[in-house]
Amino acid sequence: MVAHILFLLYQHHPIITIFLVLILASTSYGEDDNKDYRDCKKHFNCGVLSNLSYPFWGGDRPEVCGHKGFQLKCEEGQLPIIPSDKLEFRLSRLNQSSRLMTLQLVNSKDYICPTQNLANSSTESDIHVFGYDLNLQNLNLLYNCTVPNSTLVQNRISSSACRKYSGSSFYGSDDILESSSGLHQTQCSVRIKIPIPVETFRRLTGNRSELEQVLREEFNVSYKYDQGPSICDACMASKGICGTNLTDPNREFLCLCRDQPFPFVCKVCFVLFVWAIKLVG
Ligand SMILES: *[C@@H]1O[C@H](CO)[C@@H](O)[C@H](O)[C@H]1NC(C)=O
Ligand SMILES: *[C@@H]1O[C@H](CO)[C@@H](O)[C@H](O)[C@H]1NC(C)=O
Ligand SMILES: *[C@@H]1O[C@H](CO)[C@@H](O)[C@H](O)[C@H]1NC(C)=O
Ligand SMILES: *[C@@H]1O[C@H](CO)[C@@H](O)[C@H](O)[C@H]1NC(C)=O
Ligand SMILES: *[C@@H]1O[C@H](CO)[C@@H](O)[C@H](O)[C@H]1NC(C)=O
Ligand SMILES: *[C@@H]1O[C@H](CO)[C@@H](O)[C@H](O)[C@H]1NC(C)=O
Ligand SMILES: *[C@@H]1O[C@H](CO)[C@@H](O)[C@H](O)[C@H]1NC(C)=O
Ligand SMILES: *[C@@H]1O[C@H](CO)[C@@H](O)[C@H](O)[C@H]1NC(C)=O
Repeated sequence: MVAHILFLLYQHHPIITIFLVLILASTSYGEDDNKDYRDCKKHFNCGVLSNLSYPFWGGDRPEVCGHKGFQLKCEEGQLPIIPSDKLEFRLSRLNQSSRLMTLQLVNSKDYICPTQNLANSSTESDIHVFGYDLNLQNLNLLYNCTVPNSTLVQNRISSSACRKYSGSSFYGSDDILESSSGLHQTQCSVRIKIPIPVETFRRLTGNRSELEQVLREEFNVSYKYDQGPSICDACMASKGICGTNLTDPNREFLCLCRDQPFPFVCKVCFVLFVWAIKLVG
């Protein structure tokens, strides 16, 4: 992109372009005097995975270098763990160039007929924790529900799967909690949300061993951490490092540059870029 614009510019204003290239080149030999920039520039290793970069953070890599939802728990010789509220996912494979990761729910058996405590702590799970992958959907597991026998017969978990509770058990996507389903979440004392692949839903029946199998399976997630064109790519093209604005309550994107951070791209490039586009146009 930058090269393309420089080329167009060169055809129209060769002298200006040569100066521009000289300025661009000279700005890239300064000191790295921004602490966040220095911290985030380093390679990041976590357990058995090495050379990790944005959006991952955790271990000795500060949050400013990453994106919310991509924190890793690192342990020597182990695969990294991604905590999402109280659910935990093991990151078993990662391809950073294609932005694909393979996850597996840790202790998946615990979520079939769980104890009250476990359920309370995992109800806030948001499928967007892993970015905007539309191939994920929430699986709601609802236990100990006080409802008439005729309610949602097709979404019942077989009663033999959970004898701990007197009420009945259900599974379903977020639709199951819409008023038209006849089931309100306050009717169930134990509730859990777990993100699973959309195509897995078709296989679900109320059978316990099948539920266990589905929760145990590895699944691939494409971690698109921004919608539409990648702001991170634009930041990197301006010689910046992608990061997060920690003073912002929404943890917005931040482009870390040698001297100081900018909202989207590093300033030197940004100013020259706008100027170049004006000259060409
Ligand atoms: C780490 O990844 C970057 C690209 O993300 C690559 O340029 C570099 O060669 C890698 N370093 C090692 C030691 O694998
Ligand atoms: C990662 O994905 C890219 C693009 O899809 C592919 O060319 C590459 O072989 C993959 N790397 C690994 C280690 O699987
Ligand atoms: C869990 O939630 C139930 C119902 O909402 C509540 O009665 C119970 O005290 C909670 N338990 C814990 C440990 O928070
Ligand atoms: C199941 O729900 C009933 C009715 O809401 C409640 O009285 C009971 O304490 C619950 N059982 C457990 C084990 O939480
Ligand atoms: C609902 O089902 C339970 C057990 O399956 C049975 O004991 C009970 O009588 C049924 N209630 C009604 C109203 O059909
Ligand atoms: C549950 O599914 C497994 C494997 O698909 C099957 O062997 C088993 O008989 C099923 N159990 C019930 C109660 O349907
Ligand atoms: C996930 O992706 C990997 C590598 O691209 C592939 O080998 C594997 O079969 C995929 N797994 C699933 C469950 O789709
Ligand atoms: C970070 O966020 C704060 C609060 O929204 C804002 O005032 C500040 O300008 C942002 N920093 C940058 C470099 O964009």
